[in-house]
Amino acid sequence: MKRNRINALLSSEQPLPSVLIKGWVRTRRDAKTFSFIELNDGSCLANIQVIADDQLDNYDSVKKLSTGSSVCVRGTMHDSPGKGQKWEIHATEVIIINMAPDDYPLQKKRHTDEFLRTISHLRPRTNKYGAAFRIRSRLSYAIHQYFQERGFTYIHTPIITGSDCEGAGELFQVTALDLDNPPRKDEKPGKNQKIDYEADFFARQAYLTVSGQLEAEMFALALSDIYTFGPTFRAENSNTSRHAAEFWMVEPEMAFCDLAEDMDYAQDFIKFLVTDIMENCAQDLDLFARFVDKNLTTTLENITSKEFIRLPYTEAIPLLKNCGKKFAYEVFFGADLQTEHERFLAEEHFKQPVIIYDYPKTIKPFYMRVNDDDKTVAAMDVIVPRIGEIIGGSQREERLDVLESRMDVCGVSKKELWWYLDSRRYGSVPHSGFGLGFERLVMLVTGITNIRDVIPFPRTPGAIEF
Ligand code: 4AD
Ligand code: MG
Repeated sequence: MKRNRINALLSSEQPLPSVLIKGWVRTRRDAKTFSFIELNDGSCLANIQVIADDQLDNYDSVKKLSTGSSVCVRGTMHDSPGKGQKWEIHATEVIIINMAPDDYPLQKKRHTDEFLRTISHLRPRTNKYGAAFRIRSRLSYAIHQYFQERGFTYIHTPIITGSDCEGAGELFQVTALDLDNPPRKDEKPGKNQKIDYEADFFARQAYLTVSGQLEAEMFALALSDIYTFGPTFRAENSNTSRHAAEFWMVEPEMAFCDLAEDMDYAQDFIKFLVTDIMENCAQDLDLFARFVDKNLTTTLENITSKEFIRLPYTEAIPLLKNCGKKFAYEVFFGADLQTEHERFLAEEHFKQPVIIYDYPKTIKPFYMRVNDDDKTVAAMDVIVPRIGEIIGGSQREERLDVLESRMDVCGVSKKELWWYLDSRRYGSVPHSGFGLGFERLVMLVTGITNIRDVIPFPRTPGAIEF
């Protein structure tokens, strides 16, 4: 007989004459001639109540079942007289798979997120983390659904690359060289003795990708509408609650698409994802709305019901200057907006998502399309309450000569990116795309405030325990 999942049982219209459930004991309490076991199998937030009575052969052992123990239960399903649950299980057999000892760290009480991070291998067994990772899973599914339903092709861009797409120098190097004794270019020892990367695995320096965009563009210029969804890596040594060294990014890229349409897509995409979670993860979401962020429902409803504000960078600057609030970082034309500025706009001023666009070209990467004013580029960031930037995107520079001069100014090698330049040589067209930080999306939807708590095993500076 196949195992019944607890989520399926709890949502069943009819009681089943016989069930087989397997899971972990959350709590157990005893009455005179029977024991109530709250069983959870991770398929949903709710437990199912199992009633094991003293007619069971191994009732003495059942009465010792501790939190965290694993069991297999055969039984029958009945209307539950208890509050808040439709069904309960009357056990005809309880097989104890593993009895958890008393030092099981997740005894029934509230644990801090900081403590749970030290037991990342066990935290998915808690209500909150189980819910967060089910939502993360559903969001992944909804991302594919969004693009597949709109005719986008899913592209797997490489994880190991030779280029720094964002030009921020936050690269993890990948090497197969013996770092204790690397091959040298020059036989003579000394300060100028450089490592000989021609002897390395790829015969040159290689890195973990910071973005799949450059490769994604090549496919957009062949298949028109494409997206990537995969891990990216940044050796950003900023220990913030919004940055991880390994994070997932969704990067759609659309040919024959300008910045205005790019912004339309970004807004539509976020609205779709939030709506999907509200419809399909209601029970898990309710936990976050009650215990994690009291404003969560309002925040999410503002996202689904309103048009995002669109604000040119040149208007954002005076708005921030004259808002009367003291910021740690000064604002002026040419300054990159900091999280404090972004959060002020989305959280306090507009109280809803804002798309800021047309940023100064001096603070943006080489590939963004230069506007007619020659001062700004066709870039856009979507900023949301609690988080700040969730999406960064742009229209790409499709004019070969302009692109080449931007590469020169930004110090990007035209020789190494010869293949990227080819795409502007042959059949170049206007095209645009963006990158959505997947963990920041999970944070937005759940109200979780630390990126470490939305990744199964987070990688941040100094932390790679699991
Ligand atoms: O703004 P970014 O750097 O844009 C790009 O990488 C472009 N190539 C995207 C594109 O146009 N195809 O990063 C995109 C998003 C950010 O808005 C943010 O949500 C997320 O990726 N992000 C991070 N998330 C977690 N940890 C980090 N260290 C992140 N860095 C960026
Ligand atoms: Mg950005």
